This record gives sequence, C-alpha cells and structure tokens, in this order.
Amino acid sequence: MSHFSYQNGVLHAERTPLSRIAEEFGTPAYVYSKAALLDNLAAYSDACQGRNALVCYAMKANSNLAILDLLARQGAGFDIVSGGELLRVIAAGGDPNKVIFSGVGKTEDEMRLALDKGILCFNVESIPELHRLNDVAGSLGKRAPVSLRVNPNVDAKTHPYIATGLKANKFGVAFDDALETYRTAASLPHLDVVGIDCHIGSQLLDDAPLLEALDKLIELIDTLDSEGIHIHHLDIGGGLGVDYGVAGDKPPVPVGDYLGRLFARIDAWRAARHDGRAVKVIFEPGRSIVASTGVLLTKVEFLKPGAEKNFAIIDAAMNDMMRPTLYGAWMDMQPVVPRESEKAVYDIVGPVCESGDWLARERELALQPGDLLAMMSAGAYGMTMASNYNTRGRAVELMVDGEQVHVIRQRENPADLFALETMLK
Ligand code: LLP
Repeated sequence: MSHFSYQNGVLHAERTPLSRIAEEFGTPAYVYSKAALLDNLAAYSDACQGRNALVCYAMKANSNLAILDLLARQGAGFDIVSGGELLRVIAAGGDPNKVIFSGVGKTEDEMRLALDKGILCFNVESIPELHRLNDVAGSLGKRAPVSLRVNPNVDAKTHPYIATGLKANKFGVAFDDALETYRTAASLPHLDVVGIDCHIGSQLLDDAPLLEALDKLIELIDTLDSEGIHIHHLDIGGGLGVDYGVAGDKPPVPVGDYLGRLFARIDAWRAARHDGRAVKVIFEPGRSIVASTGVLLTKVEFLKPGAEKNFAIIDAAMNDMMRPTLYGAWMDMQPVVPRESEKAVYDIVGPVCESGDWLARERELALQPGDLLAMMSAGAYGMTMASNYNTRGRAVELMVDGEQVHVIRQRENPADLFALETMLK
C-alpha cells in the first residue's frame, strides 16, 4: 500500500496534504512517510523471521539521522562506505556491532575509526586493502573481521553506472582469484576471515541474477571449507529494484518472494552439507528501503512554451535530484492538485545553468504557474546525492507521521554554504 495517495483531489503523505506542507515549509522539500519506511523494513524483517539474518541498510541511499534512528530502533544494521557514515550511525544511536564497511578505497584513518568502534565486518575488495587493514589492526593490537567482496561476474541487467558485478567493474575480487585472495587473508596475523560478500548492482527488477550470484558464493564457501577456511556469514548485498512507474517495466519482484527463494536455496544447500553449521545471511538493501518512502515536492515557477518544446520551470533542480540527468532515470511526476484543464507536453526543468538540468522529459500535464508537483519515489539517492551547485541551499527534509510533520533537516541558507570559506588577508 502506498502512503502517498489522493484524498479529496489532493495528494497526501499519509494523512497530510502536500499542499499544506508546501505552504508551511516551502519548496523544494523532501517529504518522507514514516509508515512507508517502517513497512519497507518490515518486508525484509518479516521474511527473515526465525532466520539467522541481519538487514544492514545501505545508508548511502538516504542517511538522514531521523531515518537511521527509526531503522536502528527496529534492529537494523547498516552498510557504510565511509568514516563519515559510521559517525552518522553512531550519532543516530545505531549499533557499530551491526555495521558492515564496504567500498574500494578505505583510508587508514577510516579503518582505525571502524576498528576502534568495533564494527561487525570489513568488506575487503583487493589484496592491497587486505595488507593495509592487517597493518592498521596490528598497530592497534586488534584483529579485523573481514569478508571478501567477490565479483561473481553476473550480469545484473541494469544501467551500466549501477552494475557492479561484472569483470569490467572496479568492484570486488574476481571470482577466479577469490580462493587465492582468501588464502592470503587467512595467512595475515591481524585478520579474522569471517564472511563472503557480493553486490552485483542496483535497481534489479528480477531476482534471477541475485540467485545466480548466491549459487556462486555457495560454491566458493564449500571450496573454502575444504581448505579449512570457514565462512560464518554470507552477505548477498543489496540491489533489489523499486517501481518508478516506467512504462513497459515489469514490476520488481516483491522482497518477500526474493527472500523466500533465497532462503529455500540456502536451506537446500545446508541440508545437503549435513554438518549443521549455520551461516548467517546479511542483506544490504538501500533503494528498496527508502525510495518509495519519499517525494520531492516542488513548485512550478514559470511555463515557457516554445516552438519545439514546452518547458515547465520548477524550483527544484539537478542539484536536488541528480538521477535523471546522471543516469537518464525516469522518475514519475504527479500534480499535487490535478487540474481538469487541457494537458500539454512539458520538459520539467530547474533553474540551474546547464542544459542537463532536467528532472523529467515529455510529460503530459495540465499546469499553471504556482502549481505543485511531486516527484515520486525520490527517497533513495535524492538528498544524499544533492549538491550546492549554483549556491543553491539543499532542500528541507520533512518526515510525516499521520497528521504530524517533523523537520528532520532544515533548509540550507546561502550563509551556511559559504560559512567554511575564508578570503585572503
Ligand atoms: N551494497 C553496496 C556495496 C552498494 O554499493 C550498494 C549501492 C548497495 C549495497 C545498495 O544497493 P541498492 O539496494 O540501493 O540497490 N545512485 C544510484 C545507485 C547507486 C548504487 C550504489 N551502490 C541511483 O540513484 O540509481
């Protein structure tokens, strides 16, 4: 069930009209639904019920403290990619012991911080990284828990910028080199080999590539076992897609179906092993937890009819939402108060001085200046990828809970943007 719906002709977030929110807090604004967030996490937790499993939310999708806090309170762990993200988890009251540290370029400082805070596991992506981590852990008199991110060479069939599991990608250790890399890891004195990990890409509408990757990881776990390297957790990454409303796209496989199929394979494998050893399963979902949780609320400033195109110029821009211009992503735009009048075809663009500053193209809408639009499913990779280009303050972030609206991040003022700058004396 969507928590964004039309009630009496006005698009609402839960029981709050978006028009009221725009009036009170201005636009552009990111508006999130608390109930949607909790529902999306529950889809994972329910499917993991009674299992040895942990959901580590990939917080790069949306790292607002209020969101992290709500998820942490439901028992979620976190997948991080920087020291900054770890500090956010801690600031939000999350448990470092449920944190997985991914990414190809961890610095020594970041490793020290993560070891000091006692994270669950480092997902290591290369041999030089193994050596660096071993040295840093040794210098602190600690042992670092590690998992290798294995690149299973599976085609995720998604946009090339967000496919990560192919040989041509910078991520992970090639499947054919994995055994040798595990041997290296196991030989280093300050590392504990605890897991295996992969992440093949994002916005996957089908779970077949994910299950194919699972099979390859399982095969490798058995090989490692025969070498005396015992894996305690299997991290399948994130990647499950969401419904952006793209015409012709099939709806993404539901979370429960995917997890059901995945656990069935794991159960069959464990039954065949006969050794009864449990392997914990870790998930790193980002988009499927937060995308449908939020909309980007924006106002039409001007209509600019043209010979070839009509433009609707809005007050949100590419700096607020990069996905359309960066990936050619199609995001649904809905009028907050639909008009009965005749529709026209518009390109919906922002005020930034770039031709790439568009949020939607060729949309049939009935619009007037001052109208409000909601970009749907904007809760993932929206605010976290926002910038201050053109000295534009980032949008206010709001969380709706029924009829209540909470400011979870204030709108940035221009003065905030140059506060860290200094002129020469
Ligand atoms: N784990 C790792 C190691 C990742 O690199 C990612 C995403 C995730 C988990 C979460 O994947 P998800 O469940 O969200 O698909 N900015 C792009 C998406 C980039 C994804 C990067 N990695 C977009 O807006 O489409």
